[in-house]
Amino acid sequence: MTISYWNGRYLPLDQVQVSPLDRGFLFADGLYEVTAAYNGRLFEAEAHIARLQRGLAALRIDTGMSAGDWLGILERLTAESGIDGDLTVYLQVTRGAPTTRAHGFPAGVTPTVFGMVSPLKRPAAAWREQGVAALTMPDIRWGRCDLKTIALLGSVLAQQAATDAGVVDAIQIRDGFVTEGAATNVFVVKDGTIATPVADHRILVGITRQVIQRLAATAGVPFVERDVRAIELASADEVWIASTTKEITPVTTIDGRPVGTGTPGPVWGRIAALFAESQGR
Ligand SMILES: Cc1ncc(COP(=O)(O)O)c(C=O)c1O
Repeated sequence: MTISYWNGRYLPLDQVQVSPLDRGFLFADGLYEVTAAYNGRLFEAEAHIARLQRGLAALRIDTGMSAGDWLGILERLTAESGIDGDLTVYLQVTRGAPTTRAHGFPAGVTPTVFGMVSPLKRPAAAWREQGVAALTMPDIRWGRCDLKTIALLGSVLAQQAATDAGVVDAIQIRDGFVTEGAATNVFVVKDGTIATPVADHRILVGITRQVIQRLAATAGVPFVERDVRAIELASADEVWIASTTKEITPVTTIDGRPVGTGTPGPVWGRIAALFAESQGR
């Protein structure tokens, strides 16, 4: 059984026991992070920790833990994972387990902190060679998609809609604008410029998105954050989805119609090559 972190202790995953009164279980009152480690090296750990800390502050969940404490957990779980090869570390923090169920924040309750490791199944080579298919669907999620909360039912339903349709992702549309995939950020390329939806309450600011923005600057490829109309998907030269586990994946079919030439595009090729370098490949 793989190692896990549970409220200050390291123990086998099957020895972790969660209270039914935990706010995560009853209210989805918590946050999570997924960080990759390639060949034992954590990727963008500081950025993941910073996002977690911003989210905890926004939700007024005080774990008393520093960035260094979080990094220590990520490093120890990675080092003692027993997993040969790439992995992800999952961290989850909830508001804790009070003695009664009531909506308001409980007083004097210690947050629950959990971490576990899993083997990382990297995107299939075929995804890079041919691209993937996606569908579009309405974004039915709540108004604070900038917080990486464990309340993921909207994303669960979006991913299942994609899976049921035999495609890889569901690009969500709100008020005529692209928001994000089921658990990915979305990018469109037109005439050599990469555009991605603005970092506001409608999307989660992905760490992979931040890396893409940095790599585009390095490569001298124009990168803009702006509202992206759903109709732009039909005329884009390239569309990509990106996340920690999907990396940067070209989308070559949307709602059954080809994107651009129907093959992974040259701008994707440049940024994906730089991304592979930054992963240490
Ligand atoms: C809704 C949503 N958007 C974007 C992302 C991409 O974030 P990251 O690049 O940090 O993995 C995720 C990742 O899970 C997500 O759930």
